[in-house]
Amino acid sequence: MKSEDIRKKFLEFFANRGHAIVPSSSLIPDDPSVLLTTAGMQQFKRYYTGELDPMKDFGSYNTASIQKSFRTSDIDEVGDESHLTFFEMLGNFSFGGYFKEKAVEYGREFIEDVMGLKIDYVTVFDPTKVPAGDWRKGVPRDDESRAIWEKLGVKDIRAEGTEVFWGPTGAEGPCGPTTEIYVNGVEVWNIVFNEFYCDKNRKLAPLKTPGVDTGMGLERLAMVAQNVPTIFETDLFNPLISLISGKLPMRVRRIISDHIRGIAFLVSDGVRPSNKDAGYMLRRLMRRVIAYAYRDNIGSPPQDILRLVVDQYRKFPDYRNLNSDIVIKVFSEEYEGYKEKVGPEIKATEKIFSEYKAQGKKLIPPAVIFGLHQSAGVTFDISSDIAEELGVEVDRKAFEQDLDRHKKISRAGGEKKFGGHGLILNTGELKAGSEEELKKVTRLHTATHLLNQALRDVLGKDVRQMGSDITVERTRFDFTFPRKMTADEVKKVEKIVNEKIEENLPVGFKEMPKTEAEATGALHFFKSKYPERVKIYYVGKSLEDAWSKEFCGGPHVTRIGEIGKFRIIKEEASSAGVRRIRAIVG
Ligand code: ALA
Repeated sequence: MKSEDIRKKFLEFFANRGHAIVPSSSLIPDDPSVLLTTAGMQQFKRYYTGELDPMKDFGSYNTASIQKSFRTSDIDEVGDESHLTFFEMLGNFSFGGYFKEKAVEYGREFIEDVMGLKIDYVTVFDPTKVPAGDWRKGVPRDDESRAIWEKLGVKDIRAEGTEVFWGPTGAEGPCGPTTEIYVNGVEVWNIVFNEFYCDKNRKLAPLKTPGVDTGMGLERLAMVAQNVPTIFETDLFNPLISLISGKLPMRVRRIISDHIRGIAFLVSDGVRPSNKDAGYMLRRLMRRVIAYAYRDNIGSPPQDILRLVVDQYRKFPDYRNLNSDIVIKVFSEEYEGYKEKVGPEIKATEKIFSEYKAQGKKLIPPAVIFGLHQSAGVTFDISSDIAEELGVEVDRKAFEQDLDRHKKISRAGGEKKFGGHGLILNTGELKAGSEEELKKVTRLHTATHLLNQALRDVLGKDVRQMGSDITVERTRFDFTFPRKMTADEVKKVEKIVNEKIEENLPVGFKEMPKTEAEATGALHFFKSKYPERVKIYYVGKSLEDAWSKEFCGGPHVTRIGEIGKFRIIKEEASSAGVRRIRAIVG
């Protein structure tokens, strides 16, 4: 069965059983406590808790989706038969519509009757398998699921512990015991019964309405349905793998194909390579591919493989935002910069490792690995790949400890530096050295909020703030947008901001819990760690009818008339897919 047919059959199956089909959400979740979307249930978290009403939003208590997902935690396993960073997850969900009986019945029916596969065995939760002292120890044994499977004629039912308990994603959220379906020895489907809310201290409270959350990797299902030994031999990966030189070890071909898919989807969802969070994950994927392309003949330019991924997925309505021009531009920029700078260091790394090996030393000292990362730009993944090829070893734990220690030291250094220079304000975004400068940067800061909203009014809702930097002279604002703005668009943005300033609207703020703040639709950085309580600054008489609202720590003017005249002095490219505006006030 082709993967395209699997998608169709899955969605049809659940649509015919009263499920609303919901599009995949972005790889960048709304929940700032999670780096990337790792499961289909993430976009539905607030339906399980009762904060949102599924009937109102979907016309049903039950939904199904094919969710693009990314699991950072699996990156070290990529290269084996079945692990991936980026993958697609088929899932059905219920928020009060049905519970264990229906969920298990649907699982069996779809796998056996629709897919024509045979269930090997299933697993159910048993707290006696949970280690002493674990927070899941007190959860009751799932006899109900066992009885349902027995009734359906499944003979091999295995008890497991923490492996069959899901969640929470992020700091807190719905969670509960699961039952898993295995086919040909491979775990294909995880059926979760969200019965609890797990808080930040790992304390469980029963959810008012227990819910269902299931996840089945499309790639793994295709592997068993197409009866091939690895996911890389399915029709999802075949075309990619065949673009990569057959002279490379299979593990390397798999890693490249996995990472290329990740890059295409992350970039298209607005992630750009950086040294933090999701941006750093993307950078790691890119640099690893670049290092391979630099060291070996990988068969095709990575750009060609990226284009193939975009062509392969863009036909699905959920993935219309895949854009090969942007993906290739962003990748090529990183490629050129990195190859020039780091290429020779990669060669040097090979030499260093070979010398250790020649001396009969198996483990490369952690300090060497950290030094390569820190001063030569050779990331741990690349060191680890080179080590693997040369038959020496690296110590990931030691590397991570070194990295943590280094981060702490540089943070402390940064605080000292600013303290010593007599800045009276340094929020990272705003810097001022005197009362007078403070007034100026405050006006520029409020103007930056107006600019952010005006850009969205003129260019559309895909505009995302990427960063801003405000000095006494000007504000500098970076945002995602695929092309140069026309002169007309620049004028329009300026005009909107100046019209608002003329209205002299008041600026207010409200402090509230983060989840509540997110629900107001206030703009915020898509990938920052916000505290539990946040402030929203808004322009207008009230938050409800504010024209501009953003998560922000201030400071701002009290009425926007104080800003004076606003003018854009430059609009230019910052990096691929990101534009930069410089503007002044007064
Ligand atoms: N949320 C569950 C998982 O991702 C279904 O495995």
